[in-house]
Amino acid sequence: MKHTQKTALSGVKPTGRPHLGNYFGAMKQFVEMQDEYHMHVFIAEYHALTTMHNGAELRDSIYNLVLDYLAIGLDPEKVTLYKQSDIPELTELTWIFNCLVTVPWLERAHAFKDRTAKGIEASVGLFDYPVLMASDILMPDSEIVPVGKDQIQHVEMTREIARKFNNIYGETFTEPQEHIVEDVAIVPGTDGQKMSKSYGNTIPLFGTDKEIKKAIMGIVTDSKLPAEPKNPDECNVFALHKLITPSDQRAEIRKGYEEGGLGYGDSKKMLLENYLAFIEPMREKRKYFEDNPGIVRQILDEGKSKIQKITQTKMKEVREKVGL
Ligand code: ADP
Ligand code: TRP
Repeated sequence: MKHTQKTALSGVKPTGRPHLGNYFGAMKQFVEMQDEYHMHVFIAEYHALTTMHNGAELRDSIYNLVLDYLAIGLDPEKVTLYKQSDIPELTELTWIFNCLVTVPWLERAHAFKDRTAKGIEASVGLFDYPVLMASDILMPDSEIVPVGKDQIQHVEMTREIARKFNNIYGETFTEPQEHIVEDVAIVPGTDGQKMSKSYGNTIPLFGTDKEIKKAIMGIVTDSKLPAEPKNPDECNVFALHKLITPSDQRAEIRKGYEEGGLGYGDSKKMLLENYLAFIEPMREKRKYFEDNPGIVRQILDEGKSKIQKITQTKMKEVREKVGL
């Protein structure tokens, strides 16, 4: 039973394998929201194109992200799951919005500013990234957008685009609200910085046993001996126990840190064991979909036809209003 009729939408770029930061910081929320909202979840491959220029790699990443979404528990009966490129009208809407927004306004976007500050010349696509994102959000009249803190500005810009269009052409788009998961701290990577693909410090969500073991055993700690008392809240290994380890065992581990007696090596071994138990059911689900590509195709086809109905109605209205 959905408690609200509210429409929620979010997407993830297929730019490599998801890691624990992506899962706990974003993807897990989509699964939790699917019972409560009219949830739309998509693969943001048009956005990925701003940085990925290898066709085979992109195609592979898109498919793998679909498998990941299904494996973590997105239920295609409850969620409209689709690929961004299945609705090319998004680029048409982006063009229409492009003709309303100005260059100085787009120059204020953080992602663009960060790139330019690093001396990298942004492509036109990267410059236009927030406008495409506004099309994603506004096309199905999303009211709620679950995202990480880094995406708040994009949702604000989306509201401004909606307002501008509505002012000129009459009420057409709904202004969305971001939904930030406050209690999810930044998940630390194996080196203690924010876990991120760009820092090479990730634990891949669906890594092999070997990859996960290597990543967990390689987590950076201080050099305190097992017998010494330690502060669990300053330990990168314990930060992951907080996400994965059942609370009774976690309390014991905390005690072992605080009183001394538990070494980092043993703490890592327990984390590894708990991680493998935690991921096992999702791995099984992923394997099922890997072995049944026909079912995956059908899910994507259904998602496509559900979202296309919404898109076609919306674009008809937009074209009429702007005079096309
Ligand atoms: P990356 O930094 O690895 O390139 P993305 O920027 O593609 O990751 O992240 C997609 C979403 O995943 C972000 O908007 C954010 O919500 C979430 N996320 C990424 N890394 C973390 C992290 N270390 N802790 C919490 N959430 C994260
Ligand atoms: N920019 C988002 C990210 O990097 C991905 C994204 C694209 C998105 N379009 C969206 C997120 C629409 C929410 C809504 O994480």
